[in-house]
Amino acid sequence: MKTSSRLNASLSTLILSAAVASSAMAYEAGDIIVRAGVTTVDPQETIDPIALDGTTLSLSGGTSSLGLDSSTQLGLTATYMYDSNWGIELLAATPFEHTASATGELVAVGNVVDTKQLPPTLSAVYYFDTSDSFKPYFGAGINYTVFFDEDVSAGADSAFSGLGLTGADASIDNSLGLAIQLGTDYQLSEQWLINASIRWIDIDTEATITFDNGSKVTTDIEVDPFVYTLAIGYKF
Ligand code: NI
Repeated sequence: MKTSSRLNASLSTLILSAAVASSAMAYEAGDIIVRAGVTTVDPQETIDPIALDGTTLSLSGGTSSLGLDSSTQLGLTATYMYDSNWGIELLAATPFEHTASATGELVAVGNVVDTKQLPPTLSAVYYFDTSDSFKPYFGAGINYTVFFDEDVSAGADSAFSGLGLTGADASIDNSLGLAIQLGTDYQLSEQWLINASIRWIDIDTEATITFDNGSKVTTDIEVDPFVYTLAIGYKF
């Protein structure tokens, strides 16, 4: 091998290893990572029996409660790196839509209330030191869930009317609680990455349906969902 071609070979090796090293480099202070993808909120609900004016509603000796379905929306996160390990992450999303369906005595009623919710979550995240493209992290933070557009279904409305309760109007309290998560970025290049994460969010609320005569149907709801995200990200 001539000196020049040997030099060329060493140079290309050097450039190649530099490229590999940089694509697997740790995040640095000031990096901003934005991600967009599919986020599913899967409630792991625990819901008290429905009460009418503070007394458990019992039509034939049993009780009634509610169940929640899951919802998938566009999820967005942005992480600002404080140093190579610690960052601050904000989760945002398009509104999730959930239906609360009757269980127990009122099961035949089906859907009772539809609602939308937004669960903005601010977390401290810790990236573990790794030497390859996988960048796993743990996070803990605060969630504030806002419920809105609560709507009593026509079926529930007529079921309540049958009990002499007309003009059903639903509201669901907002919730402030802890959120924890595990996730990983996988760097495709210096800038692009894919991300997967799972969170658990403590969302506790009370749902109230108020009627024309001032009576109220209430129940305490622990939504406590797992939240799954699969996203594409870009590092600035
Ligand atoms: Ni809870």
